[in-house]
Formats: sequence, C-alpha cells, structure tokens
Amino acid sequence: MMVVNNIRKMRDISARARGEGGRVVFVPTMGSLHEGHLSLLKRGADFGGLLVMSIFVNPLQFGPGEDYLTYPRDIDRDTEMAEDAGADVVFIPNEAEIYPEGFQTSVDVPFLGRNLCGHFRPHHFGGVTTVLLKLFNIVEPHVAIFGEKDYQQIVIVRRMVSDLNLDIEIDTVPVVRERDGLAMSSRNGYLKPDERMAAGAIYKALLAGKSCFDSGSRDASIIIGEVEDVLSVQPMVSIQYVKICDLDTLEDVDTIEDGALLAVAAMVGRTRLIDNCKLYTTPEIDSCTDGSAGTERAMVW
Ligand code: PAF
Repeated sequence: MMVVNNIRKMRDISARARGEGGRVVFVPTMGSLHEGHLSLLKRGADFGGLLVMSIFVNPLQFGPGEDYLTYPRDIDRDTEMAEDAGADVVFIPNEAEIYPEGFQTSVDVPFLGRNLCGHFRPHHFGGVTTVLLKLFNIVEPHVAIFGEKDYQQIVIVRRMVSDLNLDIEIDTVPVVRERDGLAMSSRNGYLKPDERMAAGAIYKALLAGKSCFDSGSRDASIIIGEVEDVLSVQPMVSIQYVKICDLDTLEDVDTIEDGALLAVAAMVGRTRLIDNCKLYTTPEIDSCTDGSAGTERAMVW
C-alpha cells in the first residue's frame, strides 16, 4: 500500500490507473478509523480497481467551538488498518496544500444543507462539499463510497455530483453499530463510561420510532413523540432534533407515505451524536436492521 502526501503524486497514480483502464474507487475519511470505515473499504474492494482512502481532518467543516483541534488523529494506526482492509493508496494531504494562502472558493448546496444538522452546524456542509470537490478533482474516482450514518451528507453530495456534472458514482454502506446499537463514530471515543451507556438510548429511541411506524402509525408527530419519550428518560442525552423528513428533499413530512427518514441528533455530555433509520412501507427494505461489518465487535442487524 502506498501512503501519498502530495497532490501531484496522487493525481499521477490515479491517472496511471485510469490510463490502464482500471477503476478508481474512493473512500474519503477524516481518519480515526473504526469498523464503519472498514465497511466502506470492504465495499470499495468489491468494485475492483485502485482503492484509495483519504485521511484529512477538514478545518472548513468545523464551526467555531467545535472539535477541530481535538478531533482524534492517529495516522500510524489508520494506515495500518487501511492496509489490512485492502486499501491500495492512503492519501494524506497536508492542510497547506489543500488550502493554500489565498484560498477562497466554496461549494455550497444551500437548501439541502438547511434542515437537520445544517440548522445546528450552518457552515458544516459547505465545508464538506468544498473539500470533497477538491478531493474528487485530485483523486478522480469512478466511484466514491459514503456511510449512511451521515445520510444528509450523502443527499448533499449526490446533489453536488449531479448539479456539477461530475462523472462519479456515489455508493453507500449501511450504518455499522456497536453491540448496544450505538452507531460507530470517531466521536464515540469522547464519551465517558456513563455517557457511553446513556448513548445507547439513541438507537433504542430509533427502534421505538420504527416500531410505532411498523405498527401502522404514519403521523410523524406521533412517531417523533415515541422517539423523544425514550430519549428523555436519559438525563445525559440532550436532544438537538428528532425529525422525520423526505428521503430526497430532506424537508419535514407530516404524514409518511412511501418512505421517510427518521433522524436524530443529540448531545451526550459534550459529544454530538447523530443516527438515523429509514422508514419504509416495503418490509424487505429495512434500514434500521441492516448493517454490514460482520466482525466480532460490530453488530450486524
Ligand atoms: O464523512 C466524513 O468523514 C467527512 O465529512 C468527509 C466526507 C471525509 C469530508 O471531510
């Protein structure tokens, strides 16, 4: 596996793979890898071709007072894990090369970034799309893979790819969960033991909402009420939002017709956690109970 720190070199490697008729498959990350990331690499390997993972803690997507400076960084561990999971290239650009002096362009998908997390993190998605467009231009992937925990990110990235005519397939992988259902996240490591216990309520709450939907309720406010009831039992969990929204527009829905997204964001202590679950009327598509890692530690729903 190659570790590449330089944009020119990354471009050359991709161009060579493309020139030889190979596929370039891309997994963008901010590092601090966990089994959710490994499931993205595993999925990437299924496509064949050159499997590139990037590790870049993108300052543009953190707001003032957020955890940019303390975001966990462990490049040695990450590169080892990426290699074991089959990555061919780990691209670790440095910040000065990604954002040189004078950098000022931004890419924004304004309406899809308004609801849900966008309400609480107003500049976050602009930072995500800006860095992703840059990474896409450098890595030139045929396919890029994202985890469904950040569902809003996926919808926004797909919109950007379509609006800007990027020739990139966006592929997704289900949420990978800890044994108690907590969605895997690099930020879970911030949780103190009692907070970690309390955080399990988020998945329990989603399941309560899903069960309400499965028993026939289509009224979003009733389902949201069920979710909030479970969360409010945990004093350490402070709800930012519980929403039911359209899967494509991310606008709130009052009555669920074919399907919708049930999404939660909550603070547990000082740690912000998100999770979601698709509510489908078709029983065989069941996103609260899929999952993918299949390893000893990860839970396969
Ligand atoms: O999902 C993430 O880890 C980040 O938002 C991404 C896509 C790597 C962009 O910095």
